[in-house]
Amino acid sequence: MINFEFYNPTRIVFGEGQIAKLKELVPADAKVLMLYGGGSIFKNGVYEQVKEALDGVRVTEFGGVEPNPHFETLMKAVELIRHEGLDFILAVGGGSVIDGAKFISAAVNFDNDPKEILYKRMSIKENAVPFGTVLTLPATGSEMNSGSVVTIAATQEKLPFGGPALFPKFSICDPTVISSLPKRQLQNGVIDAFTHVMEQYLTYPVGASLQDRFAEGILQTLVEIGVKVVENPKDYTLAANFMWSCTMALNGLIQKGVPTDWATHMIGHELTALYGIDHARTLAIIAPNLYTVMIDHKEEKLAQYGRRVWNIEGVDNKQVAVEAIAKTVEFFDQMGMEGKLSSYTSDTEDIIELINDRFEKRGWTKLGENGIVTPDKVREIVRLSI
Ligand code: NZQ
Ligand code: ZN
Repeated sequence: MINFEFYNPTRIVFGEGQIAKLKELVPADAKVLMLYGGGSIFKNGVYEQVKEALDGVRVTEFGGVEPNPHFETLMKAVELIRHEGLDFILAVGGGSVIDGAKFISAAVNFDNDPKEILYKRMSIKENAVPFGTVLTLPATGSEMNSGSVVTIAATQEKLPFGGPALFPKFSICDPTVISSLPKRQLQNGVIDAFTHVMEQYLTYPVGASLQDRFAEGILQTLVEIGVKVVENPKDYTLAANFMWSCTMALNGLIQKGVPTDWATHMIGHELTALYGIDHARTLAIIAPNLYTVMIDHKEEKLAQYGRRVWNIEGVDNKQVAVEAIAKTVEFFDQMGMEGKLSSYTSDTEDIIELINDRFEKRGWTKLGENGIVTPDKVREIVRLSI
């Protein structure tokens, strides 16, 4: 096991009816910016619950944060906070709204051009505006981590950043909020969380037995409930297990003491930035091809995954690894993922070189665990994904 430090200060308030607890969680004298997305919260009762809980608190609202939040939009909220002297952010939404809150939190007191936060992939350690969240879409784990991804619309770039000052103070996770989610977003949530686990698990063995079992437990739970929760999001038990699995998949716990990959996400972000494909769907396009191209490096963990998560029998690791990738594709299909980039766009002619040029300009020439996903591998992965 690799040495590690574990720190996660986010208070999770989980369960039906817990939005009412906002009253106790938001500081009484706070001047709050309430951040939300395109308006789903007005249709499913979440807005009313939040407003009721915050009765008597000074709240300024800012809506219109788009999926894959735009730097340009978030900067308007930064100006509003500065102008009104607000001192607390409440994000009410999915990963995009929460990620947006993290960027705003970092940018308000940032002295230089806030674009630097993205271009330099800064780690924000201090001077962040405190924020809490009311989660409406289980998927990203953003409600209990300190990472964020923001898109610069002008240049079609989607860039990650984060830092220890960007953990939410609290997150309210009420599983009943998922009942208004469109099927597509439920499917996305399952696949995003599934891939988060794979990014932290599917590398090479380091004797981290407990982390492996945590990871396999989340994967097995998602396989067990994935199709069912999409069909029946009003079932509280399914919804609660779905929501908690997504949070646990990316709150830092399972990545402690193990190598991590994240190349699927980095390539996937380019497909969202260039074609607007939903985040999770880009992962479903890339992940199986990455596993195939990197099979020699990942064979042992792929075989372990195949045996423990999919109950594949056999003594030959390579054979089990190949079958495990096929099982993963089958699961993605059941979850409504389209599979190939060509299902979304015919404009794929320059994509291989475009992604490679961008990565090389950013110095991203050694992605994945131990830097094994080099430009030649990225080319091969993208080629198989078209
Ligand atoms: O904007 P509104 O109107 O609220 O509608 C949203 C949006 O259209 C809708 N929605 C959310 N909750 C709903 C609902 N509709 C009905 N009922 C509800 N309860 O769903 C749509 C998608 O929302 P979005 O927040 O974009 O989805 P998601 O949570 O999947 O977030 C995706 C973003 O998170 C980033 C992704 O790259 C992407 O930008 N990620 C963040 C990570 C992190 N911070 O750790 C890690 C992830 O790997 C990911 O990269
Ligand atoms: Zn993701």
